[in-house]
Amino acid sequence: MGVEGLAVTLAERWGVDAEKALIAALLHDYCKTGPDEELKAFLPEDGPYVPTKDDMKFPQLWHGLVAAETASRDFGVVDQEILDAVAYHSTGTVDFNEIGLTLFVADHLEPTRNFAGVSETRREVLPLPLYDAAFRVAEKKLEYISREGKETHPKTRQMAEWLENHRSLAGNPLRKGVVNST
Ligand SMILES: [Fe+2]
Repeated sequence: MGVEGLAVTLAERWGVDAEKALIAALLHDYCKTGPDEELKAFLPEDGPYVPTKDDMKFPQLWHGLVAAETASRDFGVVDQEILDAVAYHSTGTVDFNEIGLTLFVADHLEPTRNFAGVSETRREVLPLPLYDAAFRVAEKKLEYISREGKETHPKTRQMAEWLENHRSLAGNPLRKGVVNST
């Protein structure tokens, strides 16, 4: 799987902790092993990753919540940024941390993805600053899902709105990871 390599490359480019991005990338699809519906029995019943009412309508996204719970409970991962990145790698979320945003982009554009237009999307999105890249990926996911006539997860819409308001941060030299060349 190419998510790990792309996540590390992007993390290094964007000034994000590459080791954390690698760990999140290694864990994110850990529980994606069978039919999505089979994960229902493993959904967390307490703690931060209990599925919301909205989450229950999207079985294809449950594997992130289950993987975060597994990483925390069975693997002893305590880093909240890594756990959140794993939990919300498909949907995104408002105030998503930078490890999560990096994984969100890497997961969508990793080298084995072959959806229509993926090469153009990579050329357009990957050179962008972190917040812009994540915004474009969120937008493209939303466009694709609505073209398919399917329901979009509210978290993805909310994250797109949040990112739109925060994209200016990407050009702010005071933002973590952006080198001030002056
Ligand atoms: Fe996934």
